[in-house]
Parts: sequence; C-alpha cells; structure tokens
Amino acid sequence: MDNKRDACCAANEQALYDQVAGVIERYRDKPGSLIMVLHAAQEIFGYLPTKLQQFIADGMDIPLSEVCGVISFYSFFSTQKRGKHTIRMCQGTACYVRGGKKVVDEIKKELNVEVGGTTADGQFTFEIVRCIGSCGLAPAMMVDDDVYKQVSPTKLRGILARYTQEAEEEGVQE
Ligand code: FES
Repeated sequence: MDNKRDACCAANEQALYDQVAGVIERYRDKPGSLIMVLHAAQEIFGYLPTKLQQFIADGMDIPLSEVCGVISFYSFFSTQKRGKHTIRMCQGTACYVRGGKKVVDEIKKELNVEVGGTTADGQFTFEIVRCIGSCGLAPAMMVDDDVYKQVSPTKLRGILARYTQEAEEEGVQE
C-alpha cells in the first residue's frame, strides 16, 4: 500500500518536473527568462525547494548561485513549502494598538505556529504584514484574499474553525 503510494508520489513529482522542463524550454533564450521560469515553477510546485532550484539552473545552463540570488532578492519567491491558506495578520500601528498583538499570540497558540512558519498539517502559513488598508476597523487580518476586520481572539477562533472545517469536509469526500 505504502509502496504504491510512494510510486504514485514519484510519478506525480516527475509530472511536475516535466512541466517545469517545458517552461524552461519555452523561455530559455528570452531576456529576463529566469524570473519567468521561477514564477512558473513556483506556480507548479507551490514553492522552490533546493532540488528544483538545481533543476532550473541545470536546465537553463546557469550557476545555481544565480538562481539563489534571484530567489532571495524577490520576496514573492518562497523556498519553504506553504500552507494551503495564508494568514496575514496586520501589525501596522492602528492594528497593533487596538489589540493586534493579542490576536498574533492567539494564532500562534491555536495553530502552534511561529511567524513565517507553516502548520504541521500544511493548512496555514502565518505571516505578519504592515497595513492592509482597513485601519478604521482594526485589528485586521487576511486569510488568502478575504479580509477580516475587528478581529479579537474569540472572533479569530471562529474564523479558523471555518477553514479547518472545510479541510475536514474535503478529507471526508476523498
Ligand atoms: S494598520 Fe492594520 S489595516 Fe492599517
């Protein structure tokens, strides 16, 4: 059973690498192509692990250090596996003074995750941001593209429960 699953995972991973190889083929000789390839590769894999960085460097015939340099320069590239959902808690001035810090502490406690980290179940990546334009109804938080306002620790638990429940329902359907 586990062997079957391993074989299946390996086949899936190979299919993803094949997609990236196709992207490299398409962009290789175009100016600025490395950023485009990295973007596409991150879309395909969800992040840019070291093995994938090496694959891209080999495919584009450039040093790995060049790939690493571009990845570390742009904040939208991630070398860590991201959660299914991204929580962005605002810690701009308005949100901070209206209780944002308490919400941050609650997120850490509820999800057992540090800032910049991803939960063990792969559901959430937790980040801090500075102002998301909802200062009038601080503290504010985003989960993916949804904005939640006047978030308190109690309200937070309700919000997280929605996403957790959704994940459980998906698990039942599989
Ligand atoms: S400071 Fe948090 S939304 Fe502006």
